[in-house]
Amino acid sequence: MDHTLIQAKDLCRSYRTDRESIRVLDGLSLELLRGQAVAVIGPSGSGKSTLLNLLNGLLCPDSGQLQVFGREQSELTEADWAELRRTRIATLFQDGNLIPTLTVARNIAFRAGLAGLEAYEGDALLEQLDITDTAHRYPDQLSGGQRQRAALACAFAMQPQLILADEPTGSLDQATAKRVSPLFFDAIRERNVGALIVTHNPELARSCDRILELREGALHPWDSAASF
Ligand SMILES: Nc1ncnc2c1ncn2[C@@H]1O[C@H](COP(=O)(O)OP(=O)(O)O)[C@@H](O)[C@H]1O
Ligand SMILES: [Mg+2]
Repeated sequence: MDHTLIQAKDLCRSYRTDRESIRVLDGLSLELLRGQAVAVIGPSGSGKSTLLNLLNGLLCPDSGQLQVFGREQSELTEADWAELRRTRIATLFQDGNLIPTLTVARNIAFRAGLAGLEAYEGDALLEQLDITDTAHRYPDQLSGGQRQRAALACAFAMQPQLILADEPTGSLDQATAKRVSPLFFDAIRERNVGALIVTHNPELARSCDRILELREGALHPWDSAASF
């Protein structure tokens, strides 16, 4: 089995408005293997969310090469990407992508069901994230931090092979954030998952195999001695 989950070379991506074109990613390269966690840091507006959405197929690069699960981006149809997002790639969006008309427990069941799983560990995930009491609440009845944790539970319930996380602890206090790391690192160890984690949490970032900084449209190795 090929261990490369993501192979990206010289990716460029601009946004065009009627007044200007902003080049956000400018020659970005990245390799992510199974069993590996890579942290991405970078200031607001540097293109972190844009990068994640290129890797899950919600955006297309303007140029460059991208392979995901060994398949060329240019050869993947919308349906192929949808299938990957349903069964293999979990994206944790910054705003926590829960279905508003379903309770937390049903959001989790739905997500696992989409991935074709009959058995999933919903209760254990809720317990691990300390949100058992939210199981029968709707997303708009949760705090920001509870919503973020419910979104994490959904993502892990689908047992993805590739996890793209956009500030997964951004709405959590330090003590609660500590509960999140084991989700990633257990999945990496037990199921050989690969994770790309956008995070400003120093502890989470330092637990990853590499820290990369997104700057001027490309990824650069982060000097781990530097402070955040
Ligand atoms: N749909 C869009 N149209 C135009 N500009 C956009 C769009 N989405 C993002 N941008 C711009 O692209 C840059 C990178 O955005 P983003 O990837 O969200 O950065 P980050 O996640 O690092 O904060 C920002 O300058 C942002 O304003
Ligand atoms: Mg962002």
